[in-house]
Amino acid sequence: MTNKIAILPGDGIGTEIVAEAVKVLDFLNADMALGLEFEYGLIGGAAYDAHGTPFPEQTLALAKQADAILLGAVGGYKWESLDIAVRPEKGLLGLRSELQLFANLRPAILYPQLAAASTLKPEVVAGLDIMIIRELTGGIYFGQPRGVRLLENGEKQGYNTLVYSESEIRRIAHVAFQTAQKRQGRLCSVDKANVLECTELWRQVVTEIGKQYYPEVGLSHLYVDNAAMQLVRAPKQFDVLVTSNMFGDILSDISAMLTGSIGMLPSASLDAANKGMYEPIHGSAPDIAGKGIANPLATILSVAMMLRYTFNRSDAAGRIEQAVNAALNANIRTADIYSDGMQKVSTCAMGDAVISALQEGA
Ligand code: NAD
Ligand code: IPM
Ligand code: MN
Repeated sequence: MTNKIAILPGDGIGTEIVAEAVKVLDFLNADMALGLEFEYGLIGGAAYDAHGTPFPEQTLALAKQADAILLGAVGGYKWESLDIAVRPEKGLLGLRSELQLFANLRPAILYPQLAAASTLKPEVVAGLDIMIIRELTGGIYFGQPRGVRLLENGEKQGYNTLVYSESEIRRIAHVAFQTAQKRQGRLCSVDKANVLECTELWRQVVTEIGKQYYPEVGLSHLYVDNAAMQLVRAPKQFDVLVTSNMFGDILSDISAMLTGSIGMLPSASLDAANKGMYEPIHGSAPDIAGKGIANPLATILSVAMMLRYTFNRSDAAGRIEQAVNAALNANIRTADIYSDGMQKVSTCAMGDAVISALQEGA
């Protein structure tokens, strides 16, 4: 069996952070004889520059035949004025949709060493370990009709459509309940059922799935505005959160800050067979791209998720997580998680610190 990984660095800091994650993969591949093979492809702005499209046929083919995908990030100032149909983000959205990667797992864990890096009080975030499950291939991101039209009065009107079918809600609900079963057994579904019919259906279907298949999981519901507030007020009340595509996008960036930095949050986007794409939740950070200061840990931790979910190598995944912990224990910090008394290092030096920790027994 081959264990083929498609590597799509993308744009901006994408190339810098993926290089560090590949360094870690290379090390473990040799050290544990994982038998992983890598093949690189273009996505996003880099693909647009080379082929005139952010999502070339050959990238789709590469992603389809790979067992897993590692993605950096897409987007940047350079492509912001392009037609939305060929913007870098379309490449990422196309991959998610074509591969039906509907379940996006975004764990927000506070490493105790970073309590001082969070903008929240240490007692609010200490011990934080929540899992956000974001529906990734439906909702307003993909709903039709969409566009900008000309009204009779001569002004333009922009429109998008929020749609979810029962089957789309059911499949993400199953993933969420099963995730909660393996954790503390608590699931909070986030919607806007007081205003939007589509999310009223979401609430009904999630409730039915819970009653029918997972009566032992404690299910609660929150409106998204309250959920956003609760995440900042008392985030440890949550175990697993499940929500729609756009709400999940926003709530996961909020949660990232609970852990000290958006540079710490990995993600897995899975299909029904656990084939997955793995990427940090942050973007291409054009404001710091090329400076060698981005935090590569979210991407390195995404590789750990890949080894656990797609390749069933929890042993290797655990080693990466321990090595990250050890690098933080050694007071190594990129700028985004820096605090007084720590050693501020580059992207590359942070990758090296993780490798050193692996060499030293993590
Ligand atoms: P962003 O996540 O790229 O950056 C937000 C802020 O966080 C910036 O100040 C950035 O410097 C900082 N940041 C992000 N990652 C960091 C890291 N690893 N280390 C240190 N600091 C980090 O969001 P944005 O600025 O809104 O978007 C920039 C571009 O990225 C846009 O084109 C957007 O569409 C794209 N984007 C892509 C993805 C993705 O590929 N998955 C995700 C989000 C945004
Ligand atoms: C993310 C990003 C993407 C999203 C963009 C770049 C399309 O913000 O992965 O969170 O909105 O899903
Ligand atoms: Mn996002």
